[in-house]
Amino acid sequence: MNWQIELRRISKVFDERVVLRDISATVTAPGAWTILGPNGSGKSTLLRIIAGLLTPTEGEVLYLYNGERLTAHQRRQSVGMVAPDIALYRPLTALENLRFFARARGLPVRDSDLLRWLERVQLRSRAHDPVASFSTGMVQRLKLLTALVHRPSVLLLDEPGSNLDEAGMEFIRETVREQAQHGIVIIATNDTRELGYGEPLVRLGA
Ligand SMILES: Nc1ncnc2c1ncn2[C@@H]1O[C@H](COP(=O)(O)OP(=O)(O)OP(=O)(O)O)[C@@H](O)[C@H]1O
Ligand SMILES: [Mg+2]
Repeated sequence: MNWQIELRRISKVFDERVVLRDISATVTAPGAWTILGPNGSGKSTLLRIIAGLLTPTEGEVLYLYNGERLTAHQRRQSVGMVAPDIALYRPLTALENLRFFARARGLPVRDSDLLRWLERVQLRSRAHDPVASFSTGMVQRLKLLTALVHRPSVLLLDEPGSNLDEAGMEFIRETVREQAQHGIVIIATNDTRELGYGEPLVRLGA
């Protein structure tokens, strides 16, 4: 499998404030990369642009598979993302949330598979509880699963370790390691625990 993401001269300006200036980089599968920088330096903005959730002011992001450009639809199907501003459905249970996210990707889902995923983040016993009753770390674990159930080729993680304890961090380490064996994972972070998860791709200033 030959995946490639090319960032071509990306700039982003919000109301006259230049957040990203002329960023170019290329990522090829398999592997793990990090986007580093202090608070407010533009890490989340760049990750949203890579995900296609935000349009750059200048430049473009290309997704290539065996040298062919992906359509917007193929790109959406191939990406999984975890970010602080991506919400779960709080009145629905953990299992219902996973079913929803999997079906939204057109994936035929079996509850037995989803329960196995929940087991991996110690949420099996809470599968039928509404997300509204979860702690912040439990919500973060479930968010990780919603990005993984369709086995994305490209995994984008924005501060994936926020609110996680050591067991949660271990799940992330494992996930990054597995993803980096077959696909692409890009992690935006300034958490010292996550700095070594990949090769630095972009270092942003203050
Ligand atoms: N939708 C928006 N409208 C206006 N300004 C924005 C918007 N999104 C981000 N910004 C600004 O862009 C800059 C970078 O924000 P961003 O969230 O990308 O930083 P970050 O590196 O992820 O920070 P943190 O480490 O705190 O998560 C900030 O000055 C922020 O105020
Ligand atoms: Mg951020």
